[in-house]
Parts: sequence; C-alpha cells; structure tokens
Amino acid sequence: MKVIRSINSIQKQMTDLIKQGKQIGFVPTMGFFHEGHISLMRQARNDNDIVITSIFVNPLQFGPSEDFEQYPRNEEKDAKIAEEIDVDYLFMPDVSEMYPEKMSIDISINNRVNVLCGRSRPGHFDGVITVLTKLFNIVRPDKVYFGMKDAQQVAVVDALITNLNFPIELIGLPTVREGDGLAKSSRNVYLKDGERSEAIWLSKALIKGQELVVDGEKNPDIIVKEVINTLKQQTNSKLDYVELLSYPELQPVSVINEQVILAAAVYFERARLIDNLIFDSE
Ligand code: PAJ
Repeated sequence: MKVIRSINSIQKQMTDLIKQGKQIGFVPTMGFFHEGHISLMRQARNDNDIVITSIFVNPLQFGPSEDFEQYPRNEEKDAKIAEEIDVDYLFMPDVSEMYPEKMSIDISINNRVNVLCGRSRPGHFDGVITVLTKLFNIVRPDKVYFGMKDAQQVAVVDALITNLNFPIELIGLPTVREGDGLAKSSRNVYLKDGERSEAIWLSKALIKGQELVVDGEKNPDIIVKEVINTLKQQTNSKLDYVELLSYPELQPVSVINEQVILAAAVYFERARLIDNLIFDSE
C-alpha cells in the first residue's frame, strides 16, 4: 500500500492507472476506522482493480462549536487496517494541502438539506460536497462507497453526482452495528459508561417505530411520537430530531406509502449520535 500526502503525486498515479484501463474504487473517510469503514473498503476491494481510501478530517464540514479539534484520529492504526484490507493507496493530505487558501468558489446544496442533520448542522453538507468535489476530481474514481448510516449524506452525494455529471457510480452500503444494535461510529468513544448502555435505545426506538408500520400504521406522526417517547423514557439524552421522510428525496409524507427514512439524532454529554432505518410501507 502506498501512503500519499500530496495531491500532485496522487493525481499522477491516478492518471497512469486510468490510462492502463484500471477500474478505480474510492472510499472517502475521516479516519479512526471501525467495522463500518472496513465494510466499505472490503466491498471496494471486491469490486475494483484499484482501491483508494482517503483520510481527511475536513474542517469545512464542522460548525464553529463542533468537534473538529477533538475529532478522534489515529493515522498509524488506520494505515495498518487499510494495509490488511489490501487497499492500494491511502491518501492523507494535510489541511494546508487541500485548502492552501480560502476557496474562491462556493459549492453549496439547496435541496435535501433543510431537514435532519442538514437543519441542525447549517453548512455541514456544503462542506461535505466541497471536499468530495475536490476528492472526486483528484481521484477520478469509477465507483464511490458510502455508508447508509449517514443516509442524508448518501442522498446529498447522489444529488452532487447527478447535478454535476460526475461519471461515478454511487454505492450505499448497510449500517454496521455493534452486537446490541448501536451503529458503529468514530464518535462512540466519547460515550461514558452509563451513556453507552442508554445509546442502544437509539436503534431500539427506531425499530419500535418501524414495527408499528409493519403492523399497519401509516400515519408518520404516530411513528415519530413513538420514537420520541421511547427515547425520552429510556435515555437522558437531549433530542435533536426524530423525522420520517421520503427517501432519497427527503420530503415530508402525510401517509406512508413509499420508501421512507425514519431517522433520529440525540446529544449525549460529549457525543451526538445519529441512526436511521429505511423501509417501505409493507
Ligand atoms: P466518516 O464519518 O469517516 O465516514 C466515512 C464513511 O463511512 C461514510 O460513508 C460513512 O457513512 C461510513 N460509515 C460510518 N459509520 C458507518 C457504519 N456504522 N456502517 C456503515 N458505514 C459507516 O462521512 C464522512 O466521514 C465524511 O463526511 C466524508 C464523506 C469523508 C467527507 O468528509
């Protein structure tokens, strides 16, 4: 595996590989790998000639009061994991390499972001699509791999790829969970002992909501109420949102009769956790 920090150097390597007709799979990340990241890299390894993973904690997608400085990092351990999965290139640019000066061009998204995390984290998805536009141009992958744990991010990347005509296939892979259902997240390390046992209620509450739908409930308000009540009863977390919307359009629905997302976000003392389920009306 080659570890590369310079844009120039990775672009040259990619140009050579594209000339050779290689199919390139790309997994963008912010590092501190867990099984969720690993599942994306394994699938990319399975599907492509060349696998490239990036690790870049992107300052543009963190709000002023968010955890950019504290975001967990462990380059050495991540490099070992990527090597074991047989990743070919690990691209780890510094902030000064990606943003040598303030950008003169703003890339922003106005659809699919007035709900869920987009509403609670203003500007977050602009930061995400800005860095991804740069990374897609640098790497020029055939396929990109994202986790459905961040389902709104997948919907936003879908819009980015379609609107800006990137010749890239977007692949969304299922959320990887701990044995007790908690979605794996780099931020889970911030959970205190008591919070860790409460955090399982995030997925449990969503499952309870989905079960109501399976039992025939079609009214989104009733589903959302059930999830909110469960979270309030079972955790001391602060609720950010619980929403039920069409997916991937992320529009409100008055009756559940299409593919929907049921998503929730809560704050514990040091960690904001998100989770979602995507399902049909039956
Ligand atoms: P990061 O949070 O490091 O996540 C990288 C990828 O791993 C994302 O596609 C995310 O959805 C996926 N992932 C995280 N937890 C997962 C889980 N439990 N199961 C399956 N996949 C999971 O998402 C980002 O970084 C950034 O926003 C990025 C796209 C790299 C842009 O900066």
